[in-house]
Formats: sequence, C-alpha cells, structure tokens
Amino acid sequence: MSKGKTMKRDLTSLLDLSKAELEHLFDLTDQLKADKAKYAQTLKGKSVALLFQKPSNRTRVSFEIGIYQLGGKCLYLSPREIKLGQRESVADVAKTLSRYLDALVARTNTHHDILELAKNATIPVINGLSDLYHPCQALADIYSIREKFKTFQGITVAYIGDGNNVCHSLLIGCAKVGLHLNIATPKGYEPNKKIVTQAKDLAKQTGARFIFTNKPQEAVKEAHVIYTDVWTSMGQEREAKKRIKAFKGFQINKNLVKGADKKYIFMHCLPAHRNEEVTDEIIDGTHSIVFDQAENRMHTQKAILIFLLGE
Ligand code: CP
Ligand code: NVA
Repeated sequence: MSKGKTMKRDLTSLLDLSKAELEHLFDLTDQLKADKAKYAQTLKGKSVALLFQKPSNRTRVSFEIGIYQLGGKCLYLSPREIKLGQRESVADVAKTLSRYLDALVARTNTHHDILELAKNATIPVINGLSDLYHPCQALADIYSIREKFKTFQGITVAYIGDGNNVCHSLLIGCAKVGLHLNIATPKGYEPNKKIVTQAKDLAKQTGARFIFTNKPQEAVKEAHVIYTDVWTSMGQEREAKKRIKAFKGFQINKNLVKGADKKYIFMHCLPAHRNEEVTDEIIDGTHSIVFDQAENRMHTQKAILIFLLGE
C-alpha cells in the first residue's frame, strides 16, 4: 500500500489511518517479525528524534532500538533540552527540527501540542502519548490481539478503569477494525464524549459493538480480552488518593476475571501500579500477555516508520 509520495503523513491518533492501512501495518509487522534482517537498511541515512516531555521506558526504548534495527539514526531530546513552548514556541521547534530530521516522535503534556507540531512540521509527526491519545500503544495492542486470536471477528475486549488516553485510542482502534469493546469506568471517569461519538460512527462500517457501564462485572462478561491501565496517569499524581477511592471495585483480580471467557488474555499497556488496578496473581498469571504486548510496541512502530518514511 502506498501513502502517496507528495503529502507527508502524521500519526497523531488512529483516526489518521484507514482500516486498510491498519491491516497493511499489521501484515508488515508480521513480516518484520519473521525476517528482521530483510529490513536492516530500510531507514539507512534517515534520522528520527524523540521529543519527550514525560518519562518513558517502552516508547523510548522500543523506538530507539527499532530505528537502530532499521538502519536509521535516533536522537533522544529530553524535557530539559527543548523546553517545548517555554524556550521557544511549539511551531518554531517543529519548523527547526524539520530541517534536520526525517521524522519526529513526540510525547507531550497536551494533545494540542502534538497537533501544533504536526501542523508546523514538514516531516511526519508521530504521537508517542498525549493526554488524549496513545495511538502507538493501541496499534501494538490490536496487533497483539490479532496475533493471539488470528481474527477480530467475534472478539470482545473489556477495558476496565480510567477513560483515559489509552482507552481513547483503543476505542478508535477497535471501532476501525471491528472489535467489540466493553468499557467500565467509575462515574465521572468515562471516556471523552466526542471520541465516543467518533468511535460509534466508525463502528457502523465495521460492526464493532460497544457497551459503556459503571459495572466492571458487566464489562468482563464473556470477554476474550481484559485490559486495564493505571488509575492515575502521568501528570495526575496529585489526584492519586482521590482516584484510589473512586476506582475501588475496578481492580482486575481473581474474582473479577471469573466472568470472562475461559481462554481470556490479560493486557496492560504498562507501567503497572501493581496491586492497585491489577493483582500480581493476574499480571504474572498464565493468561497475561503484557510482555508480548510490550515487545510488539517495537515491531508495530517499525512498521509505522517504514510506512511513513520508507515505502
Ligand atoms: N506503555 C508505554 O507507553 O510505556 P512508557 O510510558 O514506559 O513508554
Ligand atoms: N495512561 C497512562 C499510560 C502510560 C503509558 C499515562 O498517561 O500515564
């Protein structure tokens, strides 16, 4: 599949990719996993920077090593370096970096800054997490589900927890590929209404069905995938105590998973706050695929880079 040679493309959210493009990226990821050597020179002579305002383990390391495996050069720009929007405007950063780089991966506090970078850069901008979306995560998540079940048809994902960036990207991703998604959040922590509406619209084309509830047991019922994320995201640390109270009853534990399909898989984007949103027993248990999921971040991101830069 070609993205067209004339226009630069960004990945600010999964809304930027069509269903066919998502499927293409998943097929390419299969190939990248099967024959790593074949792609060792794909990004030869190309440079990518990671501009991060928040800490990261998986996103940073998987991009850096993925770029290395594709023969490209990667540069990490820490929050202290660029001081996005403080030392100079977001637009000036985007325009300057476009003169040196072939692509930019950004992790920003606000999604607005991702859009501002994308608007002003002449190179592809990839969202490596914002307050609203985490598209690279959802891409790896949905790929991991495809890898385990070999199909999306008839598969139900239960997302239990905060209606946050990870939840929003799953909503769009599931709607695009036709995965059913049940979301259970406490009252007041539901996903963004506009994103829910967009996902519902997309789902009309793929047959994805959604359930929104405040009862974790209802969401988990006969689910094939149980997914959770931290109750307190980066930047919300001051709300941690209040959130622990609000999310009582939303922990993924032995009791809650009883209602799921017998062969369910457990997923978590990580980092996990162990024994808050998930017990050790579940995250370390036989149903958990969290480290396969983390590994797939690298493979799917290599596919994104090839799609945006190499094809
Ligand atoms: N899942 C994820 O994005 O992890 P990091 O915050 O460690 O990059
Ligand atoms: N929702 C979490 C995801 C971390 C990968 C956060 O934003 O901190």
